[in-house]
Formats: sequence, C-alpha cells, structure tokens
Amino acid sequence: MANPYEKLLLENKAWAQQQVEKDPEFFSRLSHIQTPEFLWIGCSDSRVPADKITGTQPGEIFVHRNIANLVVHTDINLLSVLEYAVVYLKVKHIIVCGHYGCGGIRAAMENHSLGIINKWLRNIKDVYHMHQKEINACKTEDDKANRLVELNVQEQIMNLAKTSIVQKAWKHEQRPHLHGWVYGLNNGIIKPVCEMEPGAHIDPLYEYDNL
Ligand code: CO
Repeated sequence: MANPYEKLLLENKAWAQQQVEKDPEFFSRLSHIQTPEFLWIGCSDSRVPADKITGTQPGEIFVHRNIANLVVHTDINLLSVLEYAVVYLKVKHIIVCGHYGCGGIRAAMENHSLGIINKWLRNIKDVYHMHQKEINACKTEDDKANRLVELNVQEQIMNLAKTSIVQKAWKHEQRPHLHGWVYGLNNGIIKPVCEMEPGAHIDPLYEYDNL
C-alpha cells in the first residue's frame, strides 16, 4: 500500500459495510438524531479512546478531548461543547476521564519551556500548587504524577460545577451528574475517583444566584 493513511480509508469502508450487515438501519437512524446520555471530557492521548474503553457505540457519547482533560473556564471550545451537551442534548452525565502516565501531567511537573503549550500546562501547575503538600509527600516520582492525575480530575470536576451552565441545569433539571475517572494505561481499567450530584455543595464564591 502506497501510504499508511490509505489503510484508514480501506478500514473505514470495511467498517461501514460491517455495520450495515449487522443493522441495515444503522446509518439512516443515526443520521437523523443523536441522543447521547454522556458527555466525555478526556485526554487527547491516542491510547485513551472514549468509545473503545467504555464499549459504547456511535450516538452514545458526546466527546471533547484536549491535553490532560482540562476544564478551563475561558476555553470557548470546551464551553461550547459543554453548553451544547447540557442545554440541547440534555446529557445526564458528564465524565472527566484522566489517565495514569499522562504526558501533559508529567510535562507540567517539569521545568522545561515547551512553547505555547506552557500556557495550557500552567493550569495543571496551578493544581499541583494547590495540592503541593499532599503530592510532595508521595514517595516516588511515579506516585507523585499518579496522584496529580487524580487531583487534576477532581479539580476539573469542580471547574465544571463552577460554570453557570452546570449550575443552571442542576437547579432546574437536577442533572447532570459529574464523574471523575482515571484510566490505567497498564491494565485498561477505569478507576472512579470523585463524583458530584446535582445540587452538590460548592464554594459560595462561585455560586450564581440568578440562574
Ligand atoms: Co494524557
């Protein structure tokens, strides 16, 4: 084969054919409507494909991925995805899924300047700074990085709860539930690390009273 990318197109043809053989209505049904129950906010890492590791099918998860699965309150891309998923798709659950061995987390713990990505990683440095005592008490560098992966997911769940989009849906529709998970690259298992139910307590400083 001339180019590796051609394999992707061939695989795609085979996949489409397979889907139709299994379920002749598959594409016509999905082309009219999507009603996913889940919004997935995950890392861009190629080893953490949201649908594969959760055994979900097209139409079941709305996905947003970025380096180290961050919820940055000025990120218009993330906020657009979040608003669309919550207000229009009416998802019941939002999952923030980090993973052990995350390169973004590692890079944020180091001191090399990487260019524009410094600004993105700065958000993770701030999480590290907030939990410095606990992280530095870990024995090995791997333990430190693993703990930061978990705490980062926890902070991103809080960042979701601080948005007016989530607070408004909590108040009027008692959804979505927020779930913080960490995926293990070494065993393929997802570990739940935190959860927030609709109406969960957040720092009053971040609470909006006119939604
Ligand atoms: Co990662």
